[in-house]
Amino acid sequence: MPPPLVTERLRLLPYSVVTDAQLDGLVTAWDDPEVWRYVGAGRDSFSRADLDRAMRRAGEHLRDELIVVRTGDGVVIGVCGLYPARLDGVETGEIELGYRFGRAFWGQGYGAEAASAVMRWAVQEQGVTSLVSNIQEPNIASRKIVERLGFAVREKRPMALDPARVELRYAWQAPASG
Ligand SMILES: CC(C)(COP(=O)(O)OP(=O)(O)OC[C@H]1O[C@@H](n2cnc3c(N)ncnc32)[C@H](O)[C@@H]1OP(=O)(O)O)[C@@H](O)C(=O)NCCC(=O)NCCS
Repeated sequence: MPPPLVTERLRLLPYSVVTDAQLDGLVTAWDDPEVWRYVGAGRDSFSRADLDRAMRRAGEHLRDELIVVRTGDGVVIGVCGLYPARLDGVETGEIELGYRFGRAFWGQGYGAEAASAVMRWAVQEQGVTSLVSNIQEPNIASRKIVERLGFAVREKRPMALDPARVELRYAWQAPASG
C-alpha cells in the first residue's frame, strides 16, 4: 500500500486513513456528467451508493488508489493511482496509471502533479518498470499528462462497449539499465 504522498500542493491518502466526510467530498466532486464524459460510456450522476458499490467491487485493488486532497483547504479533489489495466473489460495483467478529479479543479496542474507523484512512487519504491494508460481520443488533458510522463501511443482502437468511441492505448517502459 502506498504511504500518504505529499506534493507541493497536494496530499495523496490511502483509503485506510480517509474519513467518511472525505468520501462524501469525493462524491460531490464526481456527481457531474462532465467528469465521466471520457470514462467508459459515461454516466449522468454519481452518488454515495455508487461510491460504496465501486469500493466493494474494487476490493484489494483499492490499495493502490489514493484520494487526492488539496493541502491549502483540505478539499478532496479526486483520486489518482494504479489500477489493473483492462481491455474490453478483461484484465491484461498490466498496471494502469489513472486519475479522476472534480471539474472545479481541472486546468490547474493538479492532474499532472498527482500523476507524476504516483508514477515516481511506483517506479522508485515499487520497482514498476512498465505502465499503461488507456485514454479516449478527445480527452486531451489526460493525454497531455501521460505524454509529459514519457508514455507513447502503442495502439488506437474503437472501444468494444461503444465503437463510436476511440481509445488510445498509451504505454511507458523504463529505460533499460546498464
Ligand atoms: C484528465 C484530468 C485528470 C486532467 O486533470 P487536470 O488537473 O485538469 O490536468 P492539468 O491541469 O494537470 O493539465 C494537464 C495538461 O493538459 C492541459 N489541459 C488541461 N485542460 C485542458 C483542456 N480542457 N483542453 C486541452 N488541454 C488541457 C494542460 O494545459 C496541461 O498541458 P501541459 O502538459 O502542456 O501543461 C481531469 O480533466 C479529469 O479528472 N477529467 C475527468 C476524468 C478523466 O477523464 N480521467 C482520465 C480518464 S483517462
